[in-house]
Amino acid sequence: MSDLKTPTVIINFKAYSEVDGIKAVDLAKVCEAVAEETGVSIAVCPPIAELGSVARSVDIPVFSQNVDPRTPGSATGWVTPSMIKGAGAYGSLINHSEHRFDNEIIEQCVKMCYEYDLIPLVCAESVEKAKAVAAFAPRFIAVEPPELIGGDISVTTANPKIVSDTVEAVKAVNGDVAVLCGAGVKNGQDVAKAIELGAEGVLLASGVVKAKDPKAVLLDLVSGI
Ligand code: G3P
Repeated sequence: MSDLKTPTVIINFKAYSEVDGIKAVDLAKVCEAVAEETGVSIAVCPPIAELGSVARSVDIPVFSQNVDPRTPGSATGWVTPSMIKGAGAYGSLINHSEHRFDNEIIEQCVKMCYEYDLIPLVCAESVEKAKAVAAFAPRFIAVEPPELIGGDISVTTANPKIVSDTVEAVKAVNGDVAVLCGAGVKNGQDVAKAIELGAEGVLLASGVVKAKDPKAVLLDLVSGI
């Protein structure tokens, strides 16, 4: 599996029916083709049920959509770092807006990811939350205002200040943490604006997963880098 380089475009497949079953592998292969054609680092976050099949099918980084701070053994239904590492994951989202944890759990998740050689990407809904989780030294923090998620207006248009303020706040705590932004990101202009605001990439979902022609959208997105 190739390493994730910044600037990057990370596609969260969420739990859309468009990526049920083998369709997750199909979309991941489209992402891989665009990464190969353009040289831009693209990563994918398939539904956890398809994590292993996607990780075995593509060479681009594959993130789990979640991980729980649990050790192997008596943990029925929990998603352990050991399990996702075994499935071939490169890293994991932690604390996505649709799957929130408190700070104590986030810290444990980040720590356990590093123990299992997984890259932690923590989502934050505000500058304050991003600043708090920066203390745990995840590799990435993605700031995503919940009210803009799934909408048509990009965070970079609706609230550019949250992106630049998050970059400033996170870098003041730990300069090694890369800040991404997400919510409503749809095209290359949005990506270019994110970079201009100091982000090192974007995390997006509906713009690609629900697109009629995901390859065309991906090509447009990476043109902003
Ligand atoms: O994880 C990415 C996500 O929360 C943003 O979703 O559909 O607004 O790109 P979307």
